[in-house]
Amino acid sequence: MTDGSRSLARKLFIKTYGCQMNVYDSARMAEVLAPLGYVPGDSPKDADMVILNTCHIREKASEKVYSELGRMRVIKEARAEEGGRMVIAVAGCVAQAEGEEMLRRAPFVDMVLGPQTYHRLPEMVARVHRAGHEGGVLDTDFPVESKFDHMPAARSGSAVSAFLSIQEGCDKFCTFCVVPYTRGAEYSRPVAQVMDEARSLVAGGVRELTLLGQNVNAYHGLDADGREIGLGALARQLAQIDSLARIRYTTSHPRDVNAELIAAHGEVRELMPYLHLPVQSGSDRILEAMNRGHDAARYLRIVEDLRAARPDLALSCDFIVGFPGETEADFEATLDLVRTVGYAHSYTFKYSARPGTPAAALPGQVAEEVKDERLARLQDLINEQQAAFNAASVGTSCEVLFERAGRHPGQLVGRSPHNQAVHVDAPRHTIGDIAVVIIETCKPHSLEGRLLDRDASKSVAAEEKRLSA
Ligand code: SAH
Ligand code: SF4
Ligand code: F3S
Repeated sequence: MTDGSRSLARKLFIKTYGCQMNVYDSARMAEVLAPLGYVPGDSPKDADMVILNTCHIREKASEKVYSELGRMRVIKEARAEEGGRMVIAVAGCVAQAEGEEMLRRAPFVDMVLGPQTYHRLPEMVARVHRAGHEGGVLDTDFPVESKFDHMPAARSGSAVSAFLSIQEGCDKFCTFCVVPYTRGAEYSRPVAQVMDEARSLVAGGVRELTLLGQNVNAYHGLDADGREIGLGALARQLAQIDSLARIRYTTSHPRDVNAELIAAHGEVRELMPYLHLPVQSGSDRILEAMNRGHDAARYLRIVEDLRAARPDLALSCDFIVGFPGETEADFEATLDLVRTVGYAHSYTFKYSARPGTPAAALPGQVAEEVKDERLARLQDLINEQQAAFNAASVGTSCEVLFERAGRHPGQLVGRSPHNQAVHVDAPRHTIGDIAVVIIETCKPHSLEGRLLDRDASKSVAAEEKRLSA
């Protein structure tokens, strides 16, 4: 880059909160802004534009936005004193939920845009910079056109593992959740668009794709013949892409786990044996009040069917404790379900009443101390299961996809099929390779292993026996 072109570049700083879809969207926003000369940087200090890509899922997540905006205001004012300008934009789910109120509460914000309008960013930037323009620009529409048709496809950068949004929005309306209001109705990207983006990511060096959607397995994209296909069929098509070694997807809903998807888990080698399948609660009464559309027995049957198709499938989950009306017996039903399933990993949340959701108006809101106590008990059980799951890996072998350099020279960090981080001295391998590794030690958040020569893979059983002896 010459000095001349550097001075033309405008600096962009994006801070991302919330789920992987926001991570994916932030990268897309950076790409939409690139033709306008915006180059992503890692500090707001000298940025010409700051975008906060926000999350509304729990009260704490939303509150963070306003404290961060306070900090950004200070930087913006300092810049103005120097005769410069910093544009502040708020995107994501808080922007969608609080749009106008946000502009009132934080009038120094220049743009507020909801998750379905990112393709209109250039237009909004132009409005903000138009001579004589005053006040904030707001766009929280749910446009008829899909943003995906008007934004550049994801690029791989140097990543080995990449996200690919295939579905967005939610029609499920769980009574605690803001997502149907902030992301809008369920939408599935057409198959050809997904395949093109996947091929271009893989051509750029990506070996693992994580398909994203708020209800990713509700995917029903149109194929070239105008027929709807589901996630199982899409996974089969993606698996045909040469060099694409691994496919994952998140977040799935139990109601949308169908026979086709279960079969795909048994038959598509690239579909990794690790599934995030949130249940939220083990109590039928609470599941009903949450409007989840299934009971605990149905969830357990789905898990059984999945494990019958793919016996080494590991599961992770989301749980909410202290949903309105949750009794000690309801909570114990959740603990029972956790014991029955046995999770490799899980996220636990205290119920947070969200404005405008039906559950926020329910009687029987649970006291904060009770939520704290239940959260701690559930977390203990989850931690115990996670430790046991990782400990059971010691002495076994698995294929590791190397993602990045480790801290020590010659060390690489990769992922096991079960999504565990694995540290390996792997001088003969490079990032993007997959190699068979014998797991030797288990740390709280990662595993350590030793390379097993591909040629020597026949001796895996012998090595495993030696290590477990
Ligand atoms: N679509 C996904 C979840 C998206 S939100 C699904 O159906 O599972 C991610 C997680 O946040 C949820 O699984 C839930 O456990 C948690 N969550 C959502 N709303 C919440 C609320 N009001 N209070 C506490 N946790 C919540
Ligand atoms: Fe929220 Fe329920 Fe939709 Fe998941 S399925 S995004 S929890 S409403
Ligand atoms: Fe948060 Fe919106 Fe994702 S509320 S979890 S950023 S869909």
